[in-house]
Amino acid sequence: MKSNQKLKRNLVKSIALLAMPMFFVACLNDKKEETSTAEIPVNQEMMAELTAPPNVPTPVGTRKAKKLKVNMEILEQEGELTSGVRYNYWTFGGSVPGSFIRTRVGDEVEFTLSNHPDNKLPHNIDLHAVTGPGGGAESSFVAPGFEKTFSFKTLNPGLFVYHCATAPVGMHIANGMYGLILVEPEGGLSPVDKEYYIMQGDFYTKGKNGERGLQPFDMQKAVDENADYVVFNGSVDGLTGDNAITAKVGETVRLYVGNGGPNLVSSFHVIGEIFDKVYVEGGDLINENIQTTLIPAGGAAIVEFRVDVPGSLVLVDHSIFRAFNKGALGILNVEGEENEKIYSGEIYEGIYLPEGPGIQSMPTTDEIVESDVPAKSMEEQMKFGKQVYMQTCFACHQGEGQGIPNAFPPLAKSDYLNADVNRAISAVVNGLSGEITVNGETYNSVMTRQMISSEEVANVLTYVYNSWGNNGTVVSKEMVEKVKNQ
Ligand code: CU
Repeated sequence: MKSNQKLKRNLVKSIALLAMPMFFVACLNDKKEETSTAEIPVNQEMMAELTAPPNVPTPVGTRKAKKLKVNMEILEQEGELTSGVRYNYWTFGGSVPGSFIRTRVGDEVEFTLSNHPDNKLPHNIDLHAVTGPGGGAESSFVAPGFEKTFSFKTLNPGLFVYHCATAPVGMHIANGMYGLILVEPEGGLSPVDKEYYIMQGDFYTKGKNGERGLQPFDMQKAVDENADYVVFNGSVDGLTGDNAITAKVGETVRLYVGNGGPNLVSSFHVIGEIFDKVYVEGGDLINENIQTTLIPAGGAAIVEFRVDVPGSLVLVDHSIFRAFNKGALGILNVEGEENEKIYSGEIYEGIYLPEGPGIQSMPTTDEIVESDVPAKSMEEQMKFGKQVYMQTCFACHQGEGQGIPNAFPPLAKSDYLNADVNRAISAVVNGLSGEITVNGETYNSVMTRQMISSEEVANVLTYVYNSWGNNGTVVSKEMVEKVKNQ
């Protein structure tokens, strides 16, 4: 029994000995690769250019590795999460996400983190580009009114997240303490026409989505991963309206996309575009011809595409309720010449009736049939009107008439609606396009002419005017006909 065990032990030993040379070779190879970037010499010193989203600093190009000084200031400051909703952000450099840092492999980064004296809490920074304990967190823990300096060498090229790692870590991240650091390879990334910085984050507020006033962070909702807001660049409007990004037809666009979390994984997608290239998870692996790329919390990706036709491309988290109901929506406006070979636009609209006589043309207004059983009372108008609303208006103007920010105006407490009933009737029967202002926000979408009877128009508008804080106007069929005959 004993000798048997000894035999076994000897066998194991000799296998181990045999395997040793292979192990050493592997070790040497690893060592060689590591030393190759760790040994890159640095001679000069330079100050790092830092930028707020959606901008990125100048590409490194062919510059040699340097001692790169990064000075970053932590600021706790109030900002707007969405129209009327205030939030106390904690930031790296005064923006959410924090300042973009651009380095190249072999740089020796001398990082100084200062905590503004007006801040209330200590913070630190964990950069995923750091090889070392805590990614720098332990060396950078700093109280308000102090600063800390530490240094690291960038050994691996890629796009990396940084974030605060002070307890409670989730709360510091949830309040906006995250950003991106890019480590370019030797010689830099290939040149493109436009580069932008985008980062997704989820927010948890005491009040529900849209509840006004200064909203405190809600720890329980964060633990439950029940986000009230999921946004790009720190707020619902972080990447729309004046904050939308732009490109011209024919240009190549590179997006540095990060996900700060703290909780949710992003299914990053651009409506109306295909990613020619994705640097998967921000590393060296390049995937091509991608529709949607997954970006983990605490991870990033680089996506590249050429824009071929003009229009508004919509950036979303394709977990789509987050986009249309929680804010994860951005716009890339592309200007330039149409190219009908690539995209024709609408050529023809018809009614598709598979069980009927085939394709028919759209009915003209005089083909719309009025109901034989008109509403007999205001109650019935409300009831029938609601039915029309749910079938015809709901998709754009939403269940409570709240609309969709930056896309479709609200009908609830709508100053535009309440000011002029004939204008509202006209919008339904004739359609409406061009810029309008509703409750102080401008919209520039297209409402098509609604193919519903005069009585249905009267009912649905009566329903809308008598819901969600509107002025209680009762619209009759006669009023609708009058507008139609103008
Ligand atoms: Cu912090």
